[in-house]
Amino acid sequence: AMESGVAKTAITDWEAYELELQERIGIDQRLMSRVISRAKKDPKRVVFAEADNVKILKAAQTIRDEKIAIPILLGNEEKINSLIEENKLDLHDVLIIDTYKQPEKLQLYGDVLFKKRQRKGITPKEATRLMRDRNYFGAMMVELGEADALISGLTKDYPKTILPSLQVIGVKPGTDRVAGMYIMNTDKGPYFFADTTVNLNPSAEELVEIIGLTANGVKFFDIEPRVAVLSYSNFGSAKGETASKTAKATALAKQKFPDLVIEGEMQANVALNEEIQKENYPFSALIGKRANTLIFPDLSSGNIAYKLLSEIGNAEAIGPVLLGMNKPVHILQLGSSIREIVNMVAIAVVDAQSAS
Ligand code: ACO
Repeated sequence: AMESGVAKTAITDWEAYELELQERIGIDQRLMSRVISRAKKDPKRVVFAEADNVKILKAAQTIRDEKIAIPILLGNEEKINSLIEENKLDLHDVLIIDTYKQPEKLQLYGDVLFKKRQRKGITPKEATRLMRDRNYFGAMMVELGEADALISGLTKDYPKTILPSLQVIGVKPGTDRVAGMYIMNTDKGPYFFADTTVNLNPSAEELVEIIGLTANGVKFFDIEPRVAVLSYSNFGSAKGETASKTAKATALAKQKFPDLVIEGEMQANVALNEEIQKENYPFSALIGKRANTLIFPDLSSGNIAYKLLSEIGNAEAIGPVLLGMNKPVHILQLGSSIREIVNMVAIAVVDAQSAS
């Protein structure tokens, strides 16, 4: 139990935010509530690479109090402790690791990294030095089973944060891509957007991989994926590289995943409007099967679409959920809110439960 005088912290902001969302948007909270209850059934060890940050510490407080996960904090111990004190948090039973003060671990982890990357231009000394970087250290903890999931990315740009995990943990066997998915929780139900964070300009074949990863990501939330491959063109109506790439990706994906509902290439309004489909495209596989999974032709369109929808549309963005990694790693959007961090931790825990 919490001592008196200790503020009942982040959860308060979170509940208020949830109420505000319900009033403002009328969003259905069931999707994340389900994930959070699943996480609580078997909480996992989640390592935070950026624990010298007050939002991370407040999120850690919530997940500790609510028993969503067991947090592990990486960073300068003095700085973390003074932030804990300033913010009247209670994290006395949470493990704090200062990567700079772990010579034995640095050596051990460095050796493992060197073995993995010795033919990719790294020296043993460099590998050990890299391990002080908390994104490397955290990824290695997950790789070696000393933690179950890594959460990072709040304070650093996405490419810098994901690279250590790509090098240390890598992709799932059978996949050669990772991709980022956002859940857009709207008053019309949840929609899944991909790739919103990783692949700059995927080829048709890479889009097929992204479709497969995303479909699995949607199933993770117990929802049947119904995929629309988006473009500025409807079924051959317009020319250009993107139109032919998305048409080809749709055809290949239909072959590769015969059990999935996949349609395209199509414009976003057509994908989301059954009347237009019935009138003009009566062959569409999405008629009677509301599209809920939107695949974008490139990173620009995916990233811009989700950010526009979350800033000026009636939607809450949950993510980015990183798909295709061999172990659970999730890279936060720069400047995520406490609630967004807690949501991602719950997703990471459930991800780790199914991995173990
Ligand atoms: N899937 C799986 N592995 C990958 C991928 C991918 N999509 N891209 C690169 N890799 C692997 C490579 O195979 C390579 O492995 P190796 O070193 O073992 O051979 C390693 O990662 C590094 O590859 P590089 O070619 O050096 O890295 P690259 O320059 O391709 O960078 C990165 C990869 C960082 C993901 C890059 O594609 C990128 O910057 N993407 C955009 C990220 C971004 O800025 N997103 C927008 C903001 S996110 C937001 O708004 C929340």
